[in-house]
Amino acid sequence: MTMSLNALNINGISEILCYGLGRFSRLRSAKYQLALLLSLRNHYGSQVYMYDPIFSSKEIKLLTRFGFNILNINEEGKRVIQDNITLVYMPHCSIHLINNFLYANWTKKLNKCILLTNSFTVVVDNLIGTNKMSARIDYILRIRPYVTEIALENNFICEEAFNDLNIHIFLEKDIDAVPKSFWIDRVEPCYLHTTIDYFTAKQTERIDAKNCNYISGFHSLDP
Ligand SMILES: C[S@@+](CC[C@H](N)C(=O)[O-])C[C@H]1O[C@@H](n2cnc3c(N)ncnc32)[C@H](O)[C@@H]1O
Repeated sequence: MTMSLNALNINGISEILCYGLGRFSRLRSAKYQLALLLSLRNHYGSQVYMYDPIFSSKEIKLLTRFGFNILNINEEGKRVIQDNITLVYMPHCSIHLINNFLYANWTKKLNKCILLTNSFTVVVDNLIGTNKMSARIDYILRIRPYVTEIALENNFICEEAFNDLNIHIFLEKDIDAVPKSFWIDRVEPCYLHTTIDYFTAKQTERIDAKNCNYISGFHSLDP
């Protein structure tokens, strides 16, 4: 992480956005991913925003106790980053969610983001030679020449927790080299005729409404 911050000439992370952590009370890899999130938050003193439609009410309660902000709507990965330096943590997330995130933040301001997520190199290599290139991950494909991918050595005890996850940053010199028209060509991703591997807002409407009541109830009880 320090290497990425140095390369970007910054010294902190104001916000962390985490999508798709998973059921950390049941899933070993998600538990370790949560431990990393806590360590990063504690180290940088960042505000954390997170969402996974699969969190149980007990998990939401614990995350709230940790001081994390739990989003109660399914943004389908399309949260727009403000001017703060933001770590976008999407461990083993759907490539469509990553594509959605890039679409939502398709401006020069991408250089405020550090993406700790599925290796773009692995994602693209896995698609080459298959007919899945039509899986419409245009934003990942288009930004690739301008991304600096920092490989993480995976020597962790639980190998599946962090395998194929890398850090992706957008250096100013690379972002400045992008032609202006590049950002203007921006159409909302549409995954028709593709298997969408994330929960859509339509699918999670009921869960989100339940969690929304739960979160507001929890806050009012919590001093
Ligand atoms: C492949 S699992 C990864 C779980 C865990 N991070 C791991 O590495 O094992 C993908 C996760 O994305 C979550 N997910 C699905 N749709 C989502 C959405 N719209 N927004 C955020 N997370 C979503 C799923 O519930 C699931 O927990």
